[in-house]
Amino acid sequence: MEFPDHLIEEAKIRMEPHDVEGFVLGQGDTNGEVMLVGEAPGENEAVEGRPFIGRAGKELDKQLTILGLAREDIYITSVVRSRPYKWVKTNKKDSGGKRKANRKPNQKEINAHAPLLDYQIETMNPKIIITLGGVAFERVTGRKDKISEIIGQVLEMPVMKVKDIEAGVYEPSDQVYQVIPLYHPAAVFYNPKIKQTIDQSLDQVKRYLS
Ligand code: URA
Repeated sequence: MEFPDHLIEEAKIRMEPHDVEGFVLGQGDTNGEVMLVGEAPGENEAVEGRPFIGRAGKELDKQLTILGLAREDIYITSVVRSRPYKWVKTNKKDSGGKRKANRKPNQKEINAHAPLLDYQIETMNPKIIITLGGVAFERVTGRKDKISEIIGQVLEMPVMKVKDIEAGVYEPSDQVYQVIPLYHPAAVFYNPKIKQTIDQSLDQVKRYLS
């Protein structure tokens, strides 16, 4: 999906003070019914300009297969389109003693890119929005639920649109969407114990989608 030039330019200007790199537009079919919203690109995505192509992407592909969804049939996007990074120490040779590590986007970064996600939701007008992880769920719904308590549920609700970017004020859309919260695909790497919960939620969502 193309953006109007001014939306991208304004977003890039707002992002200037922040440690982020790359820009990933999103990928897939905007005529489909399902939009997937991730958090922000990682290193590989920022370099290639495509969403979910790293380790989390492999996990996402497994989950999509279970759901019976193909990447070509859905649209994949994220809350923030650039990779948020922080400098961490490393002993690796030729690294200068530091390297960039991924981090969660902060609220200012989420606000800076909010008009981009709003534009994509309004333009595609998906029936179903699957959020991957807490950052995406909170951005889309304005709710801070624990994902473990709502995973796989179908929530009929408006989505949040930014009203005042600087102040970080959001308002609900007039339209209602079906929002389905899932864990971020990388969550299972940090906490393998949730695998069973993930499998159950995917079964539940698959039944709903079919
Ligand atoms: N996590 C995301 O949310 N998006 C990506 O593209 C990769 C990892």
